[in-house]
Amino acid sequence: MTNYRHAASPSVSVFVSTPMNSYSPDEIERLRARVAALETLQRVARDLTAELDHEILLKKILRAAMDVSHSTAGSLFLYDSAAQELVFKVIVGGGGDALKETRVPAAQGIVGESFTQQRAVIVDDAETDPRYFRAPAESVGLEIHQLIAVPLIAQAKPIGVLEVMNQAVGACYSAQDAELLMAFAAQSAIALENARLYGEIRQERDRILAVEAAVRHELARDLHDGPVQMLSALVMETRYLRDLAAQDPSKIQTEFLRLDAVATKALYQTRNILFDLRPLILEQQGLGPALEQYVTRLRMVEPFNITLDAATLRVRLAPKSEAAIFSIVQESVNNAKKHAKPKNLWIEAVQDETGLTLSVRDDGNGFDVQAMEAAYSTRGSLGLLNMKERAEIVQGALRIVSQPNEGTCVTLTVPLPK
Ligand SMILES: Nc1ncnc2c1ncn2[C@@H]1O[C@H](COP(=O)(O)OP(=O)(O)OP(=O)(O)O)[C@@H](O)[C@H]1O
Ligand SMILES: [Mg+2]
Repeated sequence: MTNYRHAASPSVSVFVSTPMNSYSPDEIERLRARVAALETLQRVARDLTAELDHEILLKKILRAAMDVSHSTAGSLFLYDSAAQELVFKVIVGGGGDALKETRVPAAQGIVGESFTQQRAVIVDDAETDPRYFRAPAESVGLEIHQLIAVPLIAQAKPIGVLEVMNQAVGACYSAQDAELLMAFAAQSAIALENARLYGEIRQERDRILAVEAAVRHELARDLHDGPVQMLSALVMETRYLRDLAAQDPSKIQTEFLRLDAVATKALYQTRNILFDLRPLILEQQGLGPALEQYVTRLRMVEPFNITLDAATLRVRLAPKSEAAIFSIVQESVNNAKKHAKPKNLWIEAVQDETGLTLSVRDDGNGFDVQAMEAAYSTRGSLGLLNMKERAEIVQGALRIVSQPNEGTCVTLTVPLPK
């Protein structure tokens, strides 16, 4: 028969031939069971790495861990680092589903011990173990006798705990069961991490698509409300001029002046749209000149006063940072234009050797920032979220202060490289 032996490199296992008669029947049986378990482990691990749906993967991991360890119940917890709690994600046995998403402190009980010490914990008699937390299992009618808890470790950090309970056959879990589960948990944690990263990439892709769609919609709206209206006015005006030439040529001069004004406005608006889409001056001359040109353009079309103070902006930043900062200003100004109906808008940029502080303030309607943030995910708007993400790109801090009827101030603070 064949059995496992570790070769010189600890990570490589090789099959070697050993005469059958050097093992007792019990040992042969144990080795057979172990080889079968390792084969199951390998098959399951392959299956797990192909699964990218996080929810399905969690269930598959727990089911497979129970199969491998011949257990009748089990649970899987994931760590919530913000709350420092372990969250029940999947529970099999009793009325386990009722416990889903409930939480336990990350450093408490048997599961907490496995998590914090990053090792397997075997319990032979849960009822008499002082670390055992009776309440959760009892609340779903699950009677637990023996159990093993093993940590899920990804990139050297514990991300959760896998726990199997109540072996169908045999009295207690063995050290070998624990070793096998540890190996299984290591594979599972990699699969979980892959699925999490895949989920993040998909979310990011969806977000980029949403931003692209929003930009297209905004462009369509701007073209419709601005240049298209102006061009239709121009067409009407030209037809009127044609009729006027035949009927009353003396009025043509005045009408030409009106035509000129409409055409000039259409040109401004189209240039403003182009500037919003790609402010070339930002790439060529940097933030200060770009803000000046931006404000000059705004003043031509907006009904409110705009004050710009950017005299201290001298040092150029990385193009990516300048683009991120500029689009925070654009979104803040657009929000003031769209939502605030202000009389005044102030843009201020102060740069010293330590950093850059940029603020966009209006004296318009204002809004309840906390209420907005709490309901943000259901609104379908992206502006504030994009601003926050752009602030992260420049390692900056974004603060929005606003109250209904008291105006809004968006402040971005960016540390400058030494
Ligand atoms: N300067 C402001 N004055 C008044 N309300 C504001 C101001 N800035 C933001 N808000 C409020 O916050 C909400 C969220 O802003 P956000 O920029 O995320 O969305 P939006 O402007 O409605 O849509 P989008 O930016 O995605 O086109 C706005 O709908 C508005 O109610
Ligand atoms: Mg907005």
